[in-house]
Amino acid sequence: MKYEKLFEPITMRGVTFSNRIQRTSMVSGLTTEEGFVTEDLKKRYLREAKGGVGAIVVEAAVVIPSKSPFNLRISSDEFVPGITEVVKAVREVNKEVKMGIQIMQHLKLAKTGWRQKVEDFKTEELPKIVADHVAAAKRALAAGFDFIEVHMAHAYVLSSFLSRVNKRTDGYGGSLQNRMKLPIEVFKAVRAVVGENYPLGVRINGEDFHVSGNTLAQSSRIAVKFAELGADYISVSAGSRFEDALTPAEGNPPDPMSGYSGHRMSPWFWWPDGCHVYLSDGIREAVRAAGFTTPIIIAGKIREPEHAEKILQQGKADVIGLCRALLADPDWPNKAKEGREKELVRCVACNWCLEADSRYEKVNCNRWPQGMLNAPDPFTPSIARPGEFKKEDL
Ligand SMILES: Cc1cc2nc3c(=O)[nH]c(=O)nc-3n(C[C@H](O)[C@H](O)[C@H](O)COP(=O)(O)O)c2cc1C
Repeated sequence: MKYEKLFEPITMRGVTFSNRIQRTSMVSGLTTEEGFVTEDLKKRYLREAKGGVGAIVVEAAVVIPSKSPFNLRISSDEFVPGITEVVKAVREVNKEVKMGIQIMQHLKLAKTGWRQKVEDFKTEELPKIVADHVAAAKRALAAGFDFIEVHMAHAYVLSSFLSRVNKRTDGYGGSLQNRMKLPIEVFKAVRAVVGENYPLGVRINGEDFHVSGNTLAQSSRIAVKFAELGADYISVSAGSRFEDALTPAEGNPPDPMSGYSGHRMSPWFWWPDGCHVYLSDGIREAVRAAGFTTPIIIAGKIREPEHAEKILQQGKADVIGLCRALLADPDWPNKAKEGREKELVRCVACNWCLEADSRYEKVNCNRWPQGMLNAPDPFTPSIARPGEFKKEDL
């Protein structure tokens, strides 16, 4: 086996993941406007599961009822049957893949350009943030997910509490210790619900990439704290903050992807491959130095199996997160395992997918034959070129 580390199983609280490839969370725009599961959304996950990935983190599911169109929701029991179907359907095509869901509370936005900030929450409103995450976790359990990921990265509520921009004066802002207070309360409350035998991960920013944001100096301490609290993995992402976003055009809400920070979350083609690996490396070192073995996951323009293997071999991460690479070619894991690297349909980091998300459109990949919502099955470079695919492949 050429990629020994990449295809080595890893176990978290009794749940064994068959390899070290995790499909990181990716908003799809494929839900209904109200956030219910659709057939297209199910097909997206089925197709990805078929390609041999070890774990899939279903896209950020919103824990509050407030409007945010075409985002998956887990904010009330009426959403449970749909997400249950996703889990069941995936298990039918791949019994090995472990299914997780990312639970998330967003900050509210308005077309006037207004955006909610952490300072806007009254102290007495904070317990509701905890309660909403707990209720979402219960629904995720009911739906049959194998693990849950609490979203503490990017532009959202918990990440904004962790950030250096959080200047609250009620004990939930200011110093790093105070900024961690609410995310810790959420984590502990969710752990109490899922129990000690269930994998619970967190996703944090290794670096916010704006002048008033967190850097590796803070994210390492945050990671150590969550390792100490028993997080089963720490997924390291970056950027996507509002602080340096461009002023939106009139009648548009602010877009966290528009500034430098936004450009770092899913690094564009002009960044080198693996440009976030130094973050997982630094965080892993801090977590190991503190005596914890918590697996660290890294994503960010990792496209080649050989590169992924090297990151693991060098001890710079424990699991490789692939998002766009798997959107471009869901068969990436199987092709790597079978030595068919030449057949990989490579993500070119053009961010066609990300820009669709910013426009509230359906997320797809421009490497697929025009108009397709999912990768052809099977998927080889010849059918990746529009006009050359066979009808029966669709
Ligand atoms: C269209 C799109 C939607 C995304 N949605 C999420 C999300 O819901 N939650 C999250 O944590 N990251 C999200 N991400 C970030 C990815 O999970 C990943 O960290 C990033 O794209 C870098 O990995 P990659 O280079 O393999 O794509 C999204 C990325 C893209 C392109």
